[in-house]
Amino acid sequence: MLNVVDFQRMKQKKEKITMITAYDYPSAKHVEESGTDIILVGDSLGMVVLGYSSTTQVTLTDMIHHAKAVRRGAKETFIVVDMPFMSYHASLEQSIINATKLFQETDAQAIKLEGASEETLALIKQVTAGGIPVVGHLGLTPQTVNVLGGYRVQANDEEASQKLLEDTKRLEEAGAVAIVLECIPKEIGQVVTDELHIPTIGIGAGADCDGQVLVYHDLLQYGVGKLPKFVKTYANFNLYGTQALQNYVKDVQTGQFPQEDHTYTMKRKSILPKA
Ligand code: KIV
Ligand code: NA
Repeated sequence: MLNVVDFQRMKQKKEKITMITAYDYPSAKHVEESGTDIILVGDSLGMVVLGYSSTTQVTLTDMIHHAKAVRRGAKETFIVVDMPFMSYHASLEQSIINATKLFQETDAQAIKLEGASEETLALIKQVTAGGIPVVGHLGLTPQTVNVLGGYRVQANDEEASQKLLEDTKRLEEAGAVAIVLECIPKEIGQVVTDELHIPTIGIGAGADCDGQVLVYHDLLQYGVGKLPKFVKTYANFNLYGTQALQNYVKDVQTGQFPQEDHTYTMKRKSILPKA
């Protein structure tokens, strides 16, 4: 299993870091088999697995439940788990308790949280000192979608991009081990990547980031509809999975399934009623 020093070294050597999300045992097995460097148990869970309209309904209990299943499916991969909506905004003390619970109970290697508020920076300092690595997340931060006013490109003017760059530096100073950059112009992705010592992992942040992350269900077109511009799809499970299920239904209806191959027969027939 790689560790945070390996990720630093990969940045220095310009070796790309790969990250894919997973939410349960089978997706974790698939993702581990892909050879990815990092698995993210994202709170995108709420949208792609639980069917919520945003990530704001996801709870700490949900994240722990799913991250434990991911751990069972991917024992050899570095796992990052998202802290969900409002679980790190009540008080520093409660945030530390929540971060510790999430990290310990899921046996993850790091936690991830959105934003760079004073409270968030204080939390990062405190848990990093205690031994919990933290990944930051800036640009489009889906937990604050209702404050941002929708899912759209962030940091696309002078002022906002300056603020983003300063925030990334604050996260690095606070001790973050990497930063996810979501949905920002590639020029900003490049500047941030050049300015930081820690790796950047982009999703819709251009090719110059130190690594890339995509959501499992988006990559495979698995239960998702229209996808953002920054996604590249590598399979179409919606199509082929549905076709497979339709074929099964048709086979049962027409008597094509089960056949002898799928059927048990008795060796000794003596207990059967005489014909
Ligand atoms: O929850 C998630 O899947 C994420 C990625 C989009 C980075 O935070
Ligand atoms: Na997330």
